[in-house]
Amino acid sequence: MVDTTIDLGSVRLKSPVLAASGTFGFGREVSSVYDLSQIGGICTKGLTVDSRSGNPPPRVAETASGMLNSVGLQNPGIDSFIRDELPNMLQMGCRIVVNIAGNSLEDYQILCRTLDTTRADVIELNLSCPNVREGCMMIGSDERQIRQVVSASKAMTTKPLWVKLTPNVTDIVRMACAAEEAGADAVVLINTLMGLAIDRTSRRPILHNNTGGLSGPAIKPVALRMVADVFRSVSIPIVGVGGIMNGSDAIEFLIAGASAVEIGTATLLKPSACLDVQNEMIAIAESDGVDSLKDYSGTLIAW
Ligand SMILES: Cc1cc2nc3c(=O)[nH]c(=O)nc-3n(C[C@H](O)[C@H](O)[C@H](O)COP(=O)(O)O)c2cc1C
Repeated sequence: MVDTTIDLGSVRLKSPVLAASGTFGFGREVSSVYDLSQIGGICTKGLTVDSRSGNPPPRVAETASGMLNSVGLQNPGIDSFIRDELPNMLQMGCRIVVNIAGNSLEDYQILCRTLDTTRADVIELNLSCPNVREGCMMIGSDERQIRQVVSASKAMTTKPLWVKLTPNVTDIVRMACAAEEAGADAVVLINTLMGLAIDRTSRRPILHNNTGGLSGPAIKPVALRMVADVFRSVSIPIVGVGGIMNGSDAIEFLIAGASAVEIGTATLLKPSACLDVQNEMIAIAESDGVDSLKDYSGTLIAW
């Protein structure tokens, strides 16, 4: 029997596999496919203070080994989420990580203060969405603003705060260190990489928003490199995400230094992806003679 439990700071997960934000809704659809109590947790769609209808279509485009999306944070707003979705999610038997996105420092404070009174397990601060005009990635690409928003958010809640960073920066290590210094309990690496898809005949961008965020297997090497670099410089746990399609990919993230992983685009291809990845990790550990999945974490041997 392989031990799959991990402690991410004060949060114990029964498995290091979580569903990534924006690719799992609020878990309703996938809960009819398998019992969600088997996985480590679910990260909700990014929630804002007020509801948002998102960007006009087309909002997704397929690319070689991945996809571009410019959903633009379509969501029901935090109050509606707490009233209509959270009670159902709390019955699912896995950790509930609420992903929040704001235009400003004040938005993040309101969201954290509001969530503090709920039974959600973790707040994931989305400082990385590339598909909105204000806040988010603008904050996450500036060390000073990361410090300000993380410490202001931390002051509003006693819940563990994970900070999800954007890869669209020159130096991810500096951004992760800024988050750690400001009080983040973990960093989540990475959100999508900004990209462009063009329709040759019309000479127009395929996405209505022009650009979008690239996800899927195409970004895995970028994400792995960032996890490995950040692992050498921070002492808080890292949650790895980006292009994980199977158990071997997930274990590579652990080796690079992640304590847990999130699965995004793979779920859009196959709703059972999180559970499949988890089962494959267990099978690999059995064949490697590894007793506990946490034993893989941070074991990269560099040349
Ligand atoms: C359609 C779509 C919507 C997303 N929405 C969010 C979101 O609301 N908040 C967030 O932090 N990340 C969001 N992401 C990013 C994913 O959570 C993840 O970081 C990224 O897709 C890389 O992982 P993957 O390659 O496994 O998909 C979204 C990704 C996709 C594909």
